[in-house]
Amino acid sequence: MAAAPAALALAGCAREADGQPVTRPATARSSTLKQAAPFPVGAAVGADRLDDPAYAELLVRHFDQITPENEMKSWMILQEDGSSDFSHADKIAAFARRHGLRLFGHTLIYYQEDPAPFRRLVGDRTGFERLFRSYIGQVAGRYAGQAVGWDVVNEAVHDDGDRLRGGVFQEALGLDYIGLAFEAAREADPQAVLFLNDYKLERDATKRRTFLRLCEALLRDGVPLGGIGTQSHIDLDTDPAVIGPAMRELAGLGLPIHVSETDMGLYSARLDFRSERDRLEAQARMYGTLAEAFFALPERQRFAFSTWGVRDQDSWLRRPRTDGYHPRANPLLFDDAGAPKPAFDAVVGAWTR
Ligand code: G3I
Repeated sequence: MAAAPAALALAGCAREADGQPVTRPATARSSTLKQAAPFPVGAAVGADRLDDPAYAELLVRHFDQITPENEMKSWMILQEDGSSDFSHADKIAAFARRHGLRLFGHTLIYYQEDPAPFRRLVGDRTGFERLFRSYIGQVAGRYAGQAVGWDVVNEAVHDDGDRLRGGVFQEALGLDYIGLAFEAAREADPQAVLFLNDYKLERDATKRRTFLRLCEALLRDGVPLGGIGTQSHIDLDTDPAVIGPAMRELAGLGLPIHVSETDMGLYSARLDFRSERDRLEAQARMYGTLAEAFFALPERQRFAFSTWGVRDQDSWLRRPRTDGYHPRANPLLFDDAGAPKPAFDAVVGAWTR
């Protein structure tokens, strides 16, 4: 059995006198992420960062797909008075067009959101459904022909894993909201691959099975579910042995798989590490395991591998008042300055061995 990618990646590093591996200087690296990958490599982006030349250059050099982190969510688009503001989303779509990047839409329906125009219609099923269909039609329709896919419904499975979530959409329409969302998205965009997206599907077998049962039920009902998004926000105390089997189980329906939001916070688990270097190496090993599990999928099921941000400084986990926040969470493949980290070497190593 070949050594794990992270070990290979680190084994390729120069070594200090004490035998400890050091990170290879960025210039020594020959490959970008998208050169290493035989599938699209994506990142969540913020419209407010696209004017930063260093950010934009790094993004275009390594990635060939972008996902708006927040700009296509209802809380940013749908205004209190029912009007829509697409200015932030359009800025990201224009950047994708200008640089020849795939655009992935996130997310049409998210249980966490409770927009006033919808809230006002709870109790009026006809009126609510009319707005539900027209909102999805307006958003998905606006990017039809450009968006390669959409997270149509995000996080439908409850955190305890064995039931589906509530939220204003479920409150007004019952669980039909899920199928209705996919139908409205398909009507607005006949081409985009339509995803159901969720998190903790690697380490929580109960949640993964509930998620897959929902997918099977949707497919049985003729809902145009076209892909599975596994967010892969992975804590470093996750047993790496579960990642490959979980990926294979998610791929068992034969649908395209999008690792849609991966990041791995250095302080995401109450683990004692001797040093920051040890944390970075544990992160690299976990990224290598995930990257290898995705790479091992059948080619037709490898939709894209996306990180939830570009540089560590761009991560949601570095923003105070965020669940999981830590000032040195540093969950991504590039450090604050945009230099590749051991995790980058492990991912590239998994894809180019
Ligand atoms: O922009 C305002 C700022 O002006 C204001 O001062 C500040 C006050 O807290 O809020 C800022 O907006 C925040 C926004 O992130 C930008 O940072 C919102 O409050 C906050 O709710 C929002 O959180 C986003 C979260 O989704 C909820 O939409 C995160 O950025 C985003 O990374 C996170 O992404 C989710 C995916 O959509 C689904 N999967 C999980 C993932 C992480 O939670």
